[in-house]
Amino acid sequence: MSESGRGRVEIHHGDNLAVAAALASETFTLIYLDPPFNTGRTRERAIETARPVGEAPGIVRRGFHGREYERLRGDLRVYDDRFDDYWGYLEPRLLEAWRLLADDGTLYLHLDYREAHYAKVLLDALFGRDRFLNELIWAYDYGAKTRRRWPTKHDTILVYVKNPDRYWFDSETVDREPYMAPGLVTPEKAARGKLPTDVWWHTIVPTTGREKTGYPTQKPEGVLRRIVQASTRPGDLVLDLFAGSGTTGAVASALGRDAVLVDSNPDAVSVMRQRMPHAQVVAGAPDDRAVVSGTDAR
Ligand SMILES: C[S@@+](CC[C@H](N)C(=O)[O-])C[C@H]1O[C@@H](n2cnc3c(N)ncnc32)[C@H](O)[C@@H]1O
Repeated sequence: MSESGRGRVEIHHGDNLAVAAALASETFTLIYLDPPFNTGRTRERAIETARPVGEAPGIVRRGFHGREYERLRGDLRVYDDRFDDYWGYLEPRLLEAWRLLADDGTLYLHLDYREAHYAKVLLDALFGRDRFLNELIWAYDYGAKTRRRWPTKHDTILVYVKNPDRYWFDSETVDREPYMAPGLVTPEKAARGKLPTDVWWHTIVPTTGREKTGYPTQKPEGVLRRIVQASTRPGDLVLDLFAGSGTTGAVASALGRDAVLVDSNPDAVSVMRQRMPHAQVVAGAPDDRAVVSGTDAR
């Protein structure tokens, strides 16, 4: 944290697998991952072997769970080989994220309805079912609605903790929401609002307004703020390996948490620089330490 109370932000421009590999194990209290949704076979397997299997602490790929994981992954391939390709891209990044997660840390994986269920089964086998904390549903209501089925207007965020006995979670500091029937509770309770459940109704980023950066997949600050408030303390370190417009970093910094953000897209880096002028921008992996802008060094 800097003297202003604002958290420091470090932006890495590069492939997140290479950047993550150079970061120290068990340093991040919160890791939020919002990978591109399953867009088909374009990424393929070029990066699949970047890390030897089973090295991340706490990973259960070896032994009984390891066999179970490989069997499950093989089974899912039969149902959907596009998902298998997607998972081949995501898995090494998830293993790195797990290695980087502190003992009291929490990992949030933001997915859509097409991936969420397969991913849940695989992550239970990979991290351990006892590490699963929550399935968050972020529900919104925007855009065209099909008349051929129920319009799909939600994302799923899977939440895993590194250590079920030690993870940090503070519901007292979380932004509250209005009661659906405020007349049924005391005026004091109605004024304070209620603690959100695991279903979050929240608008998408408004097309006009302070928050809008123009980055196509930008997530709302309100969603990230709850995540940061609940799963970190001021001064903790937050990581986003698919940072995009930098929502996680902007929210974390405003709440006095330090953040490391990674994106391979130059447009994302440029948006983040504008959004967080106090951030330090680093080209490539941390080893390079080629600082290209910023003054607020970590
Ligand atoms: C869904 S967007 C994230 C949006 C972000 N949560 C926000 O609020 O703006 C996914 C991001 O991952 C980045 N990305 C995809 N593959 C990557 C990789 N291998 N290394 C680094 N960044 C990657 C993309 O450039 C994109 O900006």
